[in-house]
Amino acid sequence: MGIYDRLILPRLLACAMRNQALVPLRQRLGAAASGRVLEIGIGSALNLPFYGPGVSEVVGIDPSPALVAMARDRQPGLAFAFQVVEGAGESLPLDDNSFDTVLTTWSLCSVGDPIQVLREARRVLRPNGQLLFAEHGQAPDAGVRWWQDRLTPTWKRIAGGCHLNRCIDGLIAAAGFRLDGLQTGYLPGPKPMTFMYEGRGRPE
Ligand SMILES: C[S@@+](CC[C@H](N)C(=O)[O-])C[C@H]1O[C@@H](n2cnc3c(N)ncnc32)[C@H](O)[C@@H]1O
Repeated sequence: MGIYDRLILPRLLACAMRNQALVPLRQRLGAAASGRVLEIGIGSALNLPFYGPGVSEVVGIDPSPALVAMARDRQPGLAFAFQVVEGAGESLPLDDNSFDTVLTTWSLCSVGDPIQVLREARRVLRPNGQLLFAEHGQAPDAGVRWWQDRLTPTWKRIAGGCHLNRCIDGLIAAAGFRLDGLQTGYLPGPKPMTFMYEGRGRPE
């Protein structure tokens, strides 16, 4: 891994993800989370302030050592147990049926194998657990999709593997989740980067 991916990109990501337009989505998901929570691709742990009293523990996983270090720095003063593991969502070092909530925010765009990550999420979720997600992805408009398909090969090189054109609801359904309350729409900003999918998946 070069200096850009190791040192510069994590700081750029941590800064970009502070975008205030994302806060209402973080608030809604944080309020819906409960029990033992796993965050896949926790990054610099920007969701921590939004978890409600129903959350007893948050476990985060992320492959970036620099982002894991930033996430661990947020530990003081939390009302719930918190730990961060360095690793990839494709192979979770966690027991089956051990979480009430798995949460992903703007991470499924960047993982190497989103179906494998979602299958792992399903494995570690209890049968009555929930997958909460807020992700950007493939837009419904043909003109925007044209740009997403053309920009993605270059974009993913500079943006940590981020794909602009993943069909998020299709991936979640294909990994064995029933979608519940899916909401989609554009946030302010360039349309290829801002078509959002937000909702809940239940293990089928
Ligand atoms: C755009 S950032 C989002 C960070 C955070 N979820 C947030 O909402 O601010 C994407 C995150 O996915 C992580 N990531 C990339 N590949 C991953 C993988 N295979 N498994 C888990 N996380 C991954 C990156 O390191 C990064 O922290």
